[in-house]
Formats: sequence, C-alpha cells, structure tokens
Amino acid sequence: MRKIPYGRQHIDADDVKAVAEALQSDYLTTGPRVAEFEQAVVSYCGARHAVAVSNGTAALHAAMFALNIGPGDEVIVPAITFAASSNCVLYMGATPVFADVEPDTLLISPDSARQRITARTKAIIGVDYAGQPCDWDALRAIADEHGLALIADGCHALGGTCNGRKVGTLAEMTVFSFHPVKHVATGEGGMILTDDPDYDSRLRLFRNHGITTEARTRDEAGEWFYEMTELGYNYRLTDIQAALGTSQMRKLTTFLNTRRDIAKFYDTAFTGTAIRPLATRDGVEHAYHLYVIRVSDRDRVFKELRQAGIGVQVHYIPVHLHPYYREKLGTGVGLCPVAEEAYGQILSLPMFPDLTEDDMQYVVATLKDIIAE
Ligand SMILES: Cc1ncc(COP(=O)(O)O)c(C=O)c1O
Repeated sequence: MRKIPYGRQHIDADDVKAVAEALQSDYLTTGPRVAEFEQAVVSYCGARHAVAVSNGTAALHAAMFALNIGPGDEVIVPAITFAASSNCVLYMGATPVFADVEPDTLLISPDSARQRITARTKAIIGVDYAGQPCDWDALRAIADEHGLALIADGCHALGGTCNGRKVGTLAEMTVFSFHPVKHVATGEGGMILTDDPDYDSRLRLFRNHGITTEARTRDEAGEWFYEMTELGYNYRLTDIQAALGTSQMRKLTTFLNTRRDIAKFYDTAFTGTAIRPLATRDGVEHAYHLYVIRVSDRDRVFKELRQAGIGVQVHYIPVHLHPYYREKLGTGVGLCPVAEEAYGQILSLPMFPDLTEDDMQYVVATLKDIIAE
C-alpha cells in the first residue's frame, strides 16, 4: 500500500555536497557557515539582521527574551497554533492570553486580540498559520495604538507575502523554523529576523549563554577573555545544519512554486464539493506549509484516509485546551469558540515538494470516496 506523509523534506545531491564540505571544514559549529545562512535568509526576506538558532522554539524564546518579557506581563497568542508559539511566553514567567481566530482562515482575529488587551499586555504574537500571512496591517494598528510589540511566528510562512511585503519584515521580530516539514530543512533549526540592531545583539547574546563574544571572534582576535552579562542558553545552530540551510535556500523559490501548484490542484478538485479548504485573504501570497480543509465527520475521515496510507494530520488542538494550560492557567472550553469549533473539522492534507501528481490524484479520489460514503 502507498504511504504518503503530510510533509517531508526534499534533499538533493547539492545539499549532500554542502553538508559534506561543512563536515570536512575547520568548524562544525560557530564557523562561517552560520553567518552565510543568516545572510541567505536576510537577502531573501529583505530584513536587516538574522540570528540563527537551534530550532523555531528557541527562536521564539529568544524573541521573548529580546523584548524583556517577564513575570506579570501578558502576551496575546492565537488559539490555533503549535504550543511552542505560547510556551515561549511561559518560559519567561509571563502569561499567554489566547485570542480567537477568524472563521474562514483560522488566522488570529484582530478584533479578538484587541479585546484581550489589558494594562499588563506587552506584545502580540501573530502566527501565519498554514503559511498564510495574517492581517499584519490590522495588528500593527492595534500594537501602535496600545504601545505593544508585534512578533511574527512565521514558522509556516517563509516565502509568504502580505500586500507585497515579505514575511520576515512585517513585525519587530519574525521567527522561522527549519524542521524537515517546513519550506527549508536543516533537521532542527530556527532563525529570528529583525531590523533592530538592539534586538539583534540581545538575540546573539541569548543563543550563546548570555556571553558577550563568540568563541571564533575571540580566537581570531587572539583573546580569551569573555563575560556573561545575561542568563542565556546554548541555542546555537551548527555549521553542518547551516550548510544544509544555505543550500536549501537556493531551492526555496522552486519549493514555493511546487507547493502553490499543489494547492491549486486541490482547490480545483474540491470546488463544488463538501470539502471546504480554508479561505485565502486578499493581498497575500500563501506559502502553503499546510493545506487545511474542513470536513464534517472529521474523525472518521481522518481514520479512513490513514487506513488508505494517506498521512493526514490535525493542526492544531487549540493551545488553551491542552491539559497543561487548563491546569496552569485555568483555560478551557468556551474561551475561543471559533477555534474550538474549527478544531473538530480541520484536516491537513499531504503538501510537500516531492508529492507527485499521481499521489495528489490518489488523495483527492480517496477523500471524495470517503466523503461520499
Ligand atoms: C507555528 C509554529 N511555531 C513554532 C514552531 C516550533 O518550531 P521548531 O519545531 O523548529 O521548534 C512550530 C513547529 O512546528 C510551529 O509550527
């Protein structure tokens, strides 16, 4: 039987060569390939600075540190996202506050975010869920009005645009993940983009234990002295991973085009059926990390697709419904009704560059049969 995952990396001979060269070089970590990868992402997105870290979760944690989020602070996060988007707030001893999502896109609802603002609110984290940029103009207006920082969790949306502007330039800091199912894979990996040199320095400090200089800089200057001025972590990305990242960046445009073609194929196939894809906002270019549909009877559809070898997934359990959040923050059903209703209906279909036309046809035909039952 076929086995089609919902997402998967594409690795070619150039990637293997780039990693092999890194392995044979002087630096397996803290070497020049990390800066090269940062430069590749910065050039693509158009931001001023980028700081590579060990994964997207570390990138979110670093962004919260750079903002000086701490106990007593609140940060607004959408209910439909991966738990890491709000766990980063908890890491700093602060409180995530959940905003509901828009019913057609499942992106953070600016109105709901506005309603969640209190005197303790310090920031809003917008999540470009599934790869579609959220309403950054509306979020910017709210943030400016209330003096809040705006952070983009762009882990799904490398290559997306909003009114002609690339994801990576739409918030004070934008976070990316390079997990294998994402657009660019480094195994584990993450990055924070910013235009602000102060955030850039704090992010660099944070990924390196809170120590003011990096080992290679000291070596090159013939110095040993360093000081730790903040409590940081070892969140560094290796040169091996960075080499893979730079090589993958060269293929990003092709990856995006393929993902958009797959989305078009699904869109056309589902027109006029009971299978409802999420809506796409005007003025955005979707990066299609995920292709999410809504169906009634989702649990049956999920089970039968899995039995047919189709690796569908559910993205996501609303974060405020996780047992940890219910217990620690007292959240629960009723807090974000739109997210909760959608949660019972959503399903992510296979979406990755190497998905073949034959696979797509199989997914569509199988799904249509299951729905017709
Ligand atoms: C929206 C979102 N934010 C953050 C993360 C965390 O990224 P990572 O897995 O690289 O830690 C993910 C990962 O799947 C994600 O989907």
